[in-house]
This record gives sequence, C-alpha cells and structure tokens, in this order.
Amino acid sequence: MGCAQSQMAGADSGMKVVNVDKVKSGSKMLPRGAGSARYKLRRCNCCSFSYFALCKTCPRCNDAAPVVRKPIVGGNWKCNPSKVSELKELVANIDACDTSGCDVYVCPSTLHIGIVYKSFKNGAKVAPQNCNYKGCGAYTGEMSADQMVDMGLEWCLIGHSERRGEFGLPTPPESNSLLAMKCKYLLEKGMKVIFAIGEPLPVREKGLKAVMETLIPQLLEIKGMLDPARVVLAYEPVWSIGTGVTASPAQAQETHRAIRQWIAKEVSPSVAAEIRIQYGGSANAKNAPDLSKCPDVDGFLVGGASLKPEIAEIVAAVAKEKCWRDLGNADLFPAAVYEKSGLRKTGAVTWVKA
Ligand code: 13P
Repeated sequence: MGCAQSQMAGADSGMKVVNVDKVKSGSKMLPRGAGSARYKLRRCNCCSFSYFALCKTCPRCNDAAPVVRKPIVGGNWKCNPSKVSELKELVANIDACDTSGCDVYVCPSTLHIGIVYKSFKNGAKVAPQNCNYKGCGAYTGEMSADQMVDMGLEWCLIGHSERRGEFGLPTPPESNSLLAMKCKYLLEKGMKVIFAIGEPLPVREKGLKAVMETLIPQLLEIKGMLDPARVVLAYEPVWSIGTGVTASPAQAQETHRAIRQWIAKEVSPSVAAEIRIQYGGSANAKNAPDLSKCPDVDGFLVGGASLKPEIAEIVAAVAKEKCWRDLGNADLFPAAVYEKSGLRKTGAVTWVKA
C-alpha cells in the first residue's frame, strides 16, 4: 500500500537526509557495520520511518522516495592555459578527482581539446565550450557536433554568459533562440548538453522574482528538450563569475528550487525531480561543502578553481554530501539483512514489510 507519491526533490519534498551516525542504532534498516557517513538515512514523508536514502521506496509504507540525483562537477578552463606545456598539470588535477560518486567533465579551450581529449583515466568527460548548429562545411571558426561525435565526445557546454554577451567586448551575444537551435542540434546528434543560464547583478538586486523573469526566457525555448539523462542545467549568476563573490547557499538554493518548480509546472514533476542543476560562480574548495548541502544544488561548474588541484576537493565535497551510489539492480545489502528486519522483496530494489 503506497502513500501519495512525492517526486519533487529538495526542500519541497520534505526530504530529510540524516547522517546514519546520528540515528539510534535500533533502526531496523541499519545493519551492523553500516554506520559509515557514506550511508545516509532519509525520513519517509509519509510514515516518518527512517530508511536508507538510496532505497527507491520506503520499506515500511512503499512511498516513493525522492529521486537521488548523481552529482556532477565540470571544470571550465575557458581560454586557459596560455601554454601547451601547462596542460599536463591541469589534466592531472582533473585526473585526481574521484569519479565514483560524482560525474566529472572538463571544458578545455577549443585549441586544446584535440590534445587532451584522450588523456583522462578516471572517466572524466571532455566537453567543448561551444558548438555550431549546422554541421561540417563552410563555417569558419566553428565546431560541429559531428566532429565531436567522431572524436567520442559526449558532452558540450552551451549558453555560458560569456557567450551570451558578457565578455565585456562588442561581440554579438548568443540569443536564446540560437542557443535553443544549438541544443536541439546537439541532442539530435546524440550529444549531451550542459546548458548555462544566469542573471546579471542589477537583476539579482531586485530579488528572486526578477531573477526568474530573466532565467525563464533563457529556459523557455529548450523546455521541450529537458531530458534529465541528456541535459544538465548550470545556474551561473553573472555577478559571481570570476568575482570571488559566491552566491550564498540560501541564494543558490532558492534559485535552484525556483528553477525546479518552474520545470515541474512547465514540463513535468518527474523531469524537475531528475534534472541536475549545477551551481557556477566562484565555487571553490572552501564554499563547496556548504553549497553542496543545498538539496537542489547537484554539483558545480567551476572556472578558476578548476585550474587548480582543489577541483578534486570540490568533487569530493559534493560526492560526500549527496552520497550517490549506483544501485543498478542490486540491493545495497545482502538479502538476509532485509529479511531479518521482516522485509519482503517486491521489486528490483524494493523491500516492503512482510
Ligand atoms: P569562476 O568559478 O571562475 O567564477 O567561473 C565560473 C564559470 O564561469 C564556470 O563556467
């Protein structure tokens, strides 16, 4: 007997993830030896039972658990480094990231993609910082998705504010329509997309309503393309990029949550629950742990700090906080552990009270 299902993740779902270490050891779902910080419990929205955050349903009442999104961190090297000889060190920084609990990608400068794209041994993906929308041919200075696919690249970053006219240079800004065309083209070619959005400082100063009024037009034309398996959103407030002024956890959370609420209304609650939203803007090893605590922040798009060894600490911080683990079709613990708690298997990873 299930309770009303809650698919919305984050603050709205009432999801409460508590550290196992702080939960009384009498909990039926807490096998001996599992008291590591890696295993977290959540309290069921419906019956308040505490159970492993990784379970897909509450073992007591079968209420659907909020979706656990795998965190994702990207390193945007922008137009860096200045010398090919410096790439080795930057590659080593990315390679030092533990990718077991967090997806990692890196956006090298266009000139350097061909040099580093086969270098990563830890599964980190290479994502170009731009793409055209036509394919190969007479498009001077452009990169096509066909070329990316041929090179085995899976991801591409588009929509960065520095391409939306925030260069401080009189280069033509990329419009929402152009970015929607690029997004469609990339997805049609089988690529995955990191789609960046953000607002400038004068808008932030007016408050969340004004922020959303700026972000919604950036999302509107791609709302039909928001496949959580293939699109990641990167919320990057322009005022925090390269400035050392990071959004506070409260600012990041309220904005990510508002984006998710908009998607729930305009697309669907399940897309809203599953799509990953990264935060970008002066993210570093110091602020990543607190920002990672925000339930709607699913990782980071990192600029300056991705050129330093601290990128590995950022990845570790969000992985530790989110505790994502690939369950696949396997149970977290041997069947005997569940059975001892009076549970009966009813689905791939679903156990209910016998
Ligand atoms: P910083 O981390 O240097 O502020 O840059 C953020 C960014 O623009 C990532 O795309």
